Amino acid sequence: MKTDLPQSFRRLEYRPPVYTFDQVELDIALDPARTIVKSKIEVIPGKSFEPGAPLVLAGQELEFVSLRINGEAHRHFELTPEALTIRSLPNEGKDQFVLEIICICVPEKNTTLMGLYVSNGNFFTQCEAEGFRKITYFLDRPDVMARYRVTLQAREAECPVLLSNGNLLKEEKLPNGWHSATWEDPFPKPSYLFALVAGKLECIEETITTSSGAKKLLQIWVEPHDLKKTRHAMDSLIASIHWDEKRFGLELDLERFMIVAVSDFNMGAMENKGLNIFNTKFVLAQPETATDADFANIESVVAHEYFHNWTGNRVTCQDWFQLSLKEGLTVFRDQEFSADQMGSESGRAVKRIEDVRLLRQLQFPEDAGPMAHPIRPDEYQEINNFYTVTVYEKGSEVVRMYQTLLGRDGFRKGMDLYFKLHDGQAVTCDDFLAAMADANGKDLTQFRNWYSQAGTPRVKVEEMYDPAKKQYHLMLTQSCAPTPAQPEKKPFHIPLKMRLITSANDLPEQLLGLTEPTQSWTFDNIAERPVLSINRNFSAPIHLDFEQSEADLLSLLSSDDDPFNRWEAGQKLAMQMILNNRLPDAALMNAYRNLLLDPELDPAFKELALTLPAESYLYEQCSSVDPQQIFTARRAFRREIAKQLQLEWAALYQQNQTPGPFKSDAQDSGKRALKNLALSMLLEADPKIWAPMAINQYQIADNMTDRYAAFAALVIHGAKGANDCLNDFFSRFANDTLVIDKWFALQSSRPPVDGLESTLADVKRLREHPAFKLNNPNRARSVIHAFCANNPASFHQADGSGYAFWAESVLALDPINPQVAARLARALDRWRLFAQPYQSQMKAALERVAACPTLSPDVREVIGKALG
Ligand code: ARG
Ligand code: ZN
Repeated sequence: MKTDLPQSFRRLEYRPPVYTFDQVELDIALDPARTIVKSKIEVIPGKSFEPGAPLVLAGQELEFVSLRINGEAHRHFELTPEALTIRSLPNEGKDQFVLEIICICVPEKNTTLMGLYVSNGNFFTQCEAEGFRKITYFLDRPDVMARYRVTLQAREAECPVLLSNGNLLKEEKLPNGWHSATWEDPFPKPSYLFALVAGKLECIEETITTSSGAKKLLQIWVEPHDLKKTRHAMDSLIASIHWDEKRFGLELDLERFMIVAVSDFNMGAMENKGLNIFNTKFVLAQPETATDADFANIESVVAHEYFHNWTGNRVTCQDWFQLSLKEGLTVFRDQEFSADQMGSESGRAVKRIEDVRLLRQLQFPEDAGPMAHPIRPDEYQEINNFYTVTVYEKGSEVVRMYQTLLGRDGFRKGMDLYFKLHDGQAVTCDDFLAAMADANGKDLTQFRNWYSQAGTPRVKVEEMYDPAKKQYHLMLTQSCAPTPAQPEKKPFHIPLKMRLITSANDLPEQLLGLTEPTQSWTFDNIAERPVLSINRNFSAPIHLDFEQSEADLLSLLSSDDDPFNRWEAGQKLAMQMILNNRLPDAALMNAYRNLLLDPELDPAFKELALTLPAESYLYEQCSSVDPQQIFTARRAFRREIAKQLQLEWAALYQQNQTPGPFKSDAQDSGKRALKNLALSMLLEADPKIWAPMAINQYQIADNMTDRYAAFAALVIHGAKGANDCLNDFFSRFANDTLVIDKWFALQSSRPPVDGLESTLADVKRLREHPAFKLNNPNRARSVIHAFCANNPASFHQADGSGYAFWAESVLALDPINPQVAARLARALDRWRLFAQPYQSQMKAALERVAACPTLSPDVREVIGKALG
């Protein structure tokens, strides 16, 4: 038994580096079984330097070969599994010296996909956050920024392409069929932005001219058979480059910008300087194989990684506690970009609703659970566990609030000052806040609480209309529940957009700043009792406690001019009825009907308005969750909408066809979304009658959105023909990995269907399928995570069978890939919220995992905090 407590890192223990690096030369001879890495580094004293201090380099899973200083062999060092400590430095380390290290790593054995690894015979790296130390001994921390020159060597037959960051300096033939390429990155960067790629890859390329008139080479590198699927990613990249010039005045700073796709990847993508590496899922798309959602995700991830070139790379993070400095800001930028790409105001609103929906489904539960942390955490055991929806999505909401408070122009001023002051530096969230405050002459002291406090604030709304005085009184009270290590919270600065809606419809939108625990406002000359529309466009990431009458909610649903709140009113009505085990009443049904028939409304908006709140969001409204009861109530509610509006659904299905050549733009994809919701509703209402129409759509579809939607509707509703589709789909796309992931994921996320075997039985069969691979993250996620995290009603079984499967899966994945295992481990975070017998069964499964003596630090932290 291991008895030592897990090691924690604390934000307040940050010390600047003792030494730092100037110039780094790497010479890497690539061999899957034995890659030799030679480094030659100019070392200089850092901000915390004291004469005689040892140089401590991080290194993991490396075979040490040799060490030289200023050209001489050096013997004064110690090696541990985590570090190389070098002592007796020349002149006590006061002068610059040259450090040369040779070490060896084994990419073909690296299943963690951190550091240097092999995928389909090609070499890739992933260094963020701390993967560079698996390539060589280094000051592997973001506040050490150096200039890199990298020479890659490999056998030319196996690795014709050799890529690294920056500009290509030269290529050479070497003896015995080897060749080399030398790359130089002119911009100093931290090690986490280093990348190399080598193998049999091909690219499409374009040359573009940026705002200053400079020519830039853009390339997208993929395996040769995927070349035909790169057009959309290239278009997205070009659009991102132009958008960043226009919106923020930020230009591409390198002569060449490359994107590479790899099918084994832990996350979405990585912003390595000039050489972004992407999960294939976020690069490859063709209408026949990718859905509208895939197209949109590719556009936003390409933009996200590109935008990091300024927010992340030119200005980087001082330490990993500041991760949201780059991630929250870059998510905000990609969300704004995607909203603009929608091409209309109503399109922007659709994007906003989608983003908020994701935040509330995933981040709100995180903020209320055992892993809750501020967007700038104070403590972690494993930094990889903090690439969270809180750091990313809530971080983006916090950045958005600056824009709400300062206006678009004020926000831009803040961004300009941030770059003016910090270009080329590694800085903190405080520096960003100060730039926003100083550029606008604003005091943002209280706003800092968004960085330091975890938990979703609650705002209670009380209102009173005085017809005699024609006055409307509004009282807002904020609170925030305790989170781990934070029993008490200080009040937040909450920007709330609001409008009082009356029949005259003449009162403007206002911005209220809620800064006190309780605050009141009085509005004069209000001719009649108004309907309050508050937190418009979700101006703050909060829970609203507002007992608004059903009549008021119905009125907002039918006519609020803020599309977000219009949607929200519908969600709230549905949520309350589902939680009270009610079916939609005549008034709501009528509102739904009117909305669906409204010719002015965007089809994409209609689709969102008629999609019910997710089970995970409904759970968060309960004090004791009965997952089967919620599933049953939600499904009955949906079935009622399906049945009562069957005629409307059938009409919408016909009216929203998209004839002509496939376009993945907002308009056509909105129509497809509504049409396919209609199809799903029709199967919900009566699978016998409508299955043939779905089968027909499946067969004649010329695009994946329609084919998959029909397929999914058949499978989810257990319709006749579902099995034939399953077989057909597999054989039709057997050679397309990403499409086969969809085939797996659909089966694993199928909710329970009366008369069908449990999904868990299917999942266990899928795990034995010849095409299943536990060590490919996308495939593992398509079966295991899809079941444990995306299929609540199948997962939460009273007999605990779902949890037992979860425990087995976590334990099976952990030795292969701790990051993927730790993500899965999060699926039981909210166990304390559940009713019995679920709660005890979940606890038992957590304890079973905790009992494993060889858990990775990643999984140990997640499980430890869940049980703690
Ligand atoms: N910086 C990357 C992005 O947001 C994510 C990299 C995460 N990597 C990790 N090992 N946790 O685009
Ligand atoms: Zn990012």
